[in-house]
Amino acid sequence: MGAWWTLLGHPLWAACTLVLVLVVRAQKRTRWDPRACPVKLHGKTAIVTGANTGIGYCVALDLARRGARVILACRCPIKGTAARDQIRSLSGNPQVDLRILNLSSMASVRDFVQKIKEEEKELHLLVNNAGVSGLPKQFTADGFDTTFATNHLGPFLLTHLLLNLLKASSPSRIVIVSSSNHSKGKVDFRHFTGEQLVHRSDLVYNHTKLHNILWSNELSVRLQGSGVTVNCLHPGIVVTDVLRHYPLRLRVIFNLLGFFFFKTPEEGAVSTLYCAFSEEMDGVSGKYINSDCNLVLPSATARDAQTGKEGYEVCLRLTSNL
Ligand SMILES: NC(=O)c1ccc[n+]([C@@H]2O[C@H](COP(=O)([O-])OP(=O)(O)OC[C@H]3O[C@@H](n4cnc5c(N)ncnc54)[C@H](OP(=O)(O)O)[C@@H]3O)[C@@H](O)[C@H]2O)c1
Ligand SMILES: *[C@@H]1O[C@H](CO)[C@@H](O)[C@H](O)[C@H]1NC(C)=O
Ligand SMILES: *[C@@H]1O[C@H](CO)[C@@H](O)[C@H](O)[C@H]1NC(C)=O
Ligand SMILES: *[C@@H]1O[C@H](CO)[C@@H](O)[C@H](O)[C@H]1NC(C)=O
Repeated sequence: MGAWWTLLGHPLWAACTLVLVLVVRAQKRTRWDPRACPVKLHGKTAIVTGANTGIGYCVALDLARRGARVILACRCPIKGTAARDQIRSLSGNPQVDLRILNLSSMASVRDFVQKIKEEEKELHLLVNNAGVSGLPKQFTADGFDTTFATNHLGPFLLTHLLLNLLKASSPSRIVIVSSSNHSKGKVDFRHFTGEQLVHRSDLVYNHTKLHNILWSNELSVRLQGSGVTVNCLHPGIVVTDVLRHYPLRLRVIFNLLGFFFFKTPEEGAVSTLYCAFSEEMDGVSGKYINSDCNLVLPSATARDAQTGKEGYEVCLRLTSNL
């Protein structure tokens, strides 16, 4: 026992631990580093959904630092205003504005777009980042499962209504934040309205992230030759508020593990930024990018073009008269 304690107190042990931590942290570094990317975005306009916290906040801050006009699309005026003020002051860019958008309400999506069309002449970048996980079974005013409305149908309608503006401003880019969890998702179009939906919150999340990729791929086909590209990505496992609806003990474990092994929100923003403005992604469309900014293949289901087409039609139909 005594010998063990001596060993544990040995400087070699401390040194090994330090090296281990450094190695683990180094693993988190990606192939592409936004800090080494000189791209400037003066004269460009971007919308980032869910920009008040987590990955979206870090994405919006980076875009603002590069000189873009950034519209923070958030549902909560108080949190949104705080983020806007902080991004303005950290970036020194006054062209950062808040517009209210609640993705679980199709009426809110339409109001948001109407305002954008009245106020903005151009749109070069749309980042569909906002998402939710762990919600109990609940329905929106429109009759959709709330997680489906927030993670998929809301972003779908938002993007659809902004396509003309994006095309008119081309070259422009659409970025969709999905997740590697999509590989465990299943496609059943009845899920949108909660029918046949076995409600395990992380499973519903997985379904929505699968639909994100199917949609991105089909949209890229529809946008061929328009000068608008669309790609989706996995940001990595990132220590944010993403588990806010999960039990406290789970969040404590997540944050503790996360300190060593997961990404910070700044690191988690990297693959989104890569898709948003890296020169390597010029003209690239319909791809899935992993957290190291590599183009990889998503699951076989996510690559099924026929399902993508069908899903697109279903979403158009579900949102057409809302
Ligand atoms: N963190 C991870 O490990 C991880 C892994 C894979 C994928 N992702 C994806 O990354 C994206 C960003 O997540 P995050 O980790 O940054 O999570 P987060 O910290 O929870 O941020 C989510 C953002 O989405 C917003 N949002 C939620 N519901 C909304 C609604 N109905 N209307 C408008 N905005 C809404 C939130 O606004 P409020 O603050 O007002 O709630 C918040 O700004 C999500 O799509 C998530 O699925 C995350
Ligand atoms: C967003 O919309 C949903 C669904 O209609 C509604 O239940 C919720 O209260 C709204 N949230 C905010 C912050 O406006
Ligand atoms: C993704 O999958 C993990 C398990 O690998 C799960 O614990 C987590 O809740 C899922 N992520 C989200 C945001 O639901
Ligand atoms: C959701 O996906 C994650 C990661 O792929 C997986 O670990 C988890 O079990 C899935 N959830 C369900 C309920 O299948």
